[in-house]
Amino acid sequence: MEIFKEPFGKLSDGAEVSRWVLINEKGLAAKILDYGATIQSLIVPDKNGNPVDVVLGHDTIEEYVAGDCYLGATIGRVGNRIGEGKFELNGEKYELFVNNGPNHLHGGKKGFDSFIWEAEREGDFVVFKRISPDGEEGYPGNLEVSVKMGWKENSFTIEYEAKTDKDTVINLTNHSYFNLNGAGSGDIHSHTLEINAEKYTVCDENCLPTGELASVSGTAMDFRTPKLIGKDIENDEPCVKLSRGYDSTFVISGHPFAKATGDLSGITLVADTDQPGVQLYTANFLTDSRGKGGLECGLRSAFCLETQHFPDSIHHPEWPSVILRKGEIFKSFTSYTFV
Ligand code: BGC
Repeated sequence: MEIFKEPFGKLSDGAEVSRWVLINEKGLAAKILDYGATIQSLIVPDKNGNPVDVVLGHDTIEEYVAGDCYLGATIGRVGNRIGEGKFELNGEKYELFVNNGPNHLHGGKKGFDSFIWEAEREGDFVVFKRISPDGEEGYPGNLEVSVKMGWKENSFTIEYEAKTDKDTVINLTNHSYFNLNGAGSGDIHSHTLEINAEKYTVCDENCLPTGELASVSGTAMDFRTPKLIGKDIENDEPCVKLSRGYDSTFVISGHPFAKATGDLSGITLVADTDQPGVQLYTANFLTDSRGKGGLECGLRSAFCLETQHFPDSIHHPEWPSVILRKGEIFKSFTSYTFV
């Protein structure tokens, strides 16, 4: 495994940003910024053996800082939505920044995606670490968090670990935008996608779960057998229509939980995790659309498979819990395997 670090510009306050490059024996490459522990590139061979960069990203740190679409970033402390940005834990009320309609999204005003993380090589992997201080973005507890990323053969793996000195909430994910035909090669309507999920979280007009877990059967949300992403994307199904495409959490019911193939490249992504859900987001509101190499990455030019707990779980005690207690160790993994 070849691993090296190189400069990737500076923030406006002069802080230096680095990029880690990991290339395995088969030539599969990953480029990860310490800014946001952000996956900038994943380069894998297509059906003819030619290298293809399958994730959206930018060439400069300035574009990452200016962007608001979280391209490739690590999301925390709580990814996805918290209704009205409020919650109660151990009888204490907490108020968070509201940045998505009436709700809190992806950790708030300055989430984990907008910090420079400490990073070091650990064997074949790079580990990104930070301490999110007590009260950051309104969340309780000093949270020590690490994200270990790298290749295991043709699997790009992400392992999260966290501990807190006070009970808190946590829902970490990675926000990579995949286009298996290559970043900047057009929309993903002709990609085939299969998701091992019998149910999804029904949402209101602000994409906040109502609490109902509905069957995918007979709906646009049914990906139990391989289907073109574009097939039902204009469907009248409220979840799809309101979001101008897919932006819903699926309840994972088997493993690996998803498989997608780029029609032009023949590249197949097999995704797995130990998390209970996955947000399928088809880049319905992509605003920072100037991608690497100046290629335009517009509406629906990628899809995200954000592995996570169900959104707003803190308000749904019947769902798997996002509470991390003092003294407990939070651990989770996600893998993206290219075949
Ligand atoms: C959310 C979308 C949001 C996107 C970018 C996704 O995880 O579900 O609603 O637009 O992230 O912020």
